[in-house]
Amino acid sequence: MNYSLIKYFRFIPPELAHFFFLKLIGLEIIEKKYFNENLKISLWGKTFSNPLGLAAGFDKNAESISGLFSLGFGFVEVGTITPLMQKGNKKPRVFRLPEYEAVIQRLGFNNEGSKNALKNIEKYAKDKANNILGINIGKNSETKDAEVDYINLLKLFSKYSDYIVLNISSPNTPGLRELQKKQNIEDFLISIKKNNHDKVPILLKISPDISDDDLQNICELVKTKNLIDGLIVSNTTISREMIKTKPIKDSWKIHEAGGLSGPPLLNLSNKILAKTYAATNGKIPIIGVGGVSSAKDAFEKIALGASLIQLYTALIYKGPNIVVEILNGLSKLLKEKGFEDLKSAIGHKVKV
Ligand SMILES: Cc1cc2nc3c(=O)[nH]c(=O)nc-3n(C[C@H](O)[C@H](O)[C@H](O)COP(=O)(O)O)c2cc1C
Repeated sequence: MNYSLIKYFRFIPPELAHFFFLKLIGLEIIEKKYFNENLKISLWGKTFSNPLGLAAGFDKNAESISGLFSLGFGFVEVGTITPLMQKGNKKPRVFRLPEYEAVIQRLGFNNEGSKNALKNIEKYAKDKANNILGINIGKNSETKDAEVDYINLLKLFSKYSDYIVLNISSPNTPGLRELQKKQNIEDFLISIKKNNHDKVPILLKISPDISDDDLQNICELVKTKNLIDGLIVSNTTISREMIKTKPIKDSWKIHEAGGLSGPPLLNLSNKILAKTYAATNGKIPIIGVGGVSSAKDAFEKIALGASLIQLYTALIYKGPNIVVEILNGLSKLLKEKGFEDLKSAIGHKVKV
């Protein structure tokens, strides 16, 4: 089927539109077989058929995994999942900024909890084939000792996932981003590693608003201690500077609290990506995410050091065909620029 219905979703409130969109994808009505030899990449001992993945937050409860792979994604990341179900912040909490094809949201880890997600993932795992599944975990907002939540979730999900993401960068859970700080991060990662009995690859998702000091500290840990296996750069931003350049109809939305995503995030997340790649000497894989809505954007992230790419907001504004459109364009761009494969293009614009 074509997803032509989706263009009408903009007339209904964002969260309701998302509900229908996810259900529609879950029906697995389309099957896009996508393959391009030059987009294959191997990381953490696994082969990704292509480098474009779905970012966390789209399928928080892991309910439409197979359908999401049918859109052509090379990997899918579900979550953020918290131990207990959580309602999240009061509605309205998601705001579209169509003039920028952007979103501001403060959902606050609304999800059905780990038991429900596990049931869905177990069901999916039975017919998993070779798809690569990431599971993104976070703490409940009421939890005082964050470490306990992350460790319990790691133990619960590690054998079902190809990688686990420690989301410590959502702006919508008070205090969460404190974990990124120099005084907290090392002990936190040591505990995680100690409890990673299945030795699943551990990725850390960072904020584009991270201080230079905290970023350099994380990069130093990457270089000197073997605590994590990858980084995801980046989550949404609390900055609003990039959406002040043109007038928008509902200008009040700019002042809504929450994380901004979509094209206005591209430059900021790219800046942090290049810095991270340089400061880690390209030592561990980075997933580049933030504002990707075209093949050119995806190629730029690879040039700046990303081994894999993710998107979310572009799916809302451009619809599901954007996945294959980006992959075709990316494959072509690699050839045009003289790269025989994806790997050889990673970080070519950054001095390490
Ligand atoms: C509605 C919405 C919900 C999100 N929820 C999560 C989440 O639960 N966990 C997470 O790590 N990131 C979450 N994100 C952030 C995305 O994974 C991604 O990092 C960010 O949106 C930047 O990518 P984009 O510009 O392609 O959307 C969410 C983003 C949006 C728009």
